[in-house]
Amino acid sequence: MNIVVTGANRGIGLEFVRQYLARGERVVGAVRDPASAEALHALGAAHPGRLRVLACDVGDDASVADFARELGAEAVDVLVNNAGMRDEWASLEAVSTAEALRVYSVNALGPVRVTRALLPNLLKAGTRKVVHISSGMGSIGDNRSGGAYAYRMSKAALNMASRSLALDLRDRDVVSVVFNPGWVQTDMGGPSAPLAVGASVRALVGLIDGLTLAESGSFLNWSGKAYEW
Ligand SMILES: NC(=O)c1ccc[n+]([C@@H]2O[C@H](COP(=O)([O-])OP(=O)(O)OC[C@H]3O[C@@H](n4cnc5c(N)ncnc54)[C@H](OP(=O)(O)O)[C@@H]3O)[C@@H](O)[C@H]2O)c1
Repeated sequence: MNIVVTGANRGIGLEFVRQYLARGERVVGAVRDPASAEALHALGAAHPGRLRVLACDVGDDASVADFARELGAEAVDVLVNNAGMRDEWASLEAVSTAEALRVYSVNALGPVRVTRALLPNLLKAGTRKVVHISSGMGSIGDNRSGGAYAYRMSKAALNMASRSLALDLRDRDVVSVVFNPGWVQTDMGGPSAPLAVGASVRALVGLIDGLTLAESGSFLNWSGKAYEW
């Protein structure tokens, strides 16, 4: 299969690349700065000819368009919209609207930009799965601690986008699902997170393998259970 992973240079995205390469897939790692993506290039060297590293800032229309052009006409079986950012989780009084708009552009609009740009590539493939790495913090029903306005709102909006993508693309056999990856040990999750990145991604890769149109439009926890919207 041909797999595209955004935010592929570290954290959950890098681990997706590692696990897909290890089982023999061909992967495109989309990153903001290819020159500094050392860990990703090391994976490419260990799996010659199966990893392409391309520039893509998911928060920038022109960068996503350039990325799609660079990718060319190749089929994409699985698109993992993983790239994401968080703000400082400021209090209500301190939240910056400029920062919140940036988080929204990256976390909510980023996956829409990339999915739209790669739709012709997805339609060339047999598999046609788009998965978005959302968060439990994007769940309205599971919000029991408040705050984190920019991040929570961006992920709730991503969840909505995924449902619309699922409905709009169903007749073209494209699956769209949002995942909560759990609280994971990465730069974003921090060292206190209970879940190792390898375990989270192993579970997600297994779930992606099993996705069909029947699950399209759903919000799934890394455990495989439906997550509360
Ligand atoms: N870790 C957790 O506990 C947790 C929990 C729930 C959801 N998530 C979600 O999981 C995804 C991956 O998170 P992570 O834990 O791996 O975080 P991370 O370690 O902070 O990595 C974030 C990745 O996203 C990339 N990125 C950020 N802004 C980007 C942009 N504008 N364009 C392209 N790439 C961009 C980063 O690239 P740079 O190196 O260039 O910044 C980096 O590769 C995110 O969507 C996050 O919200 C994580």
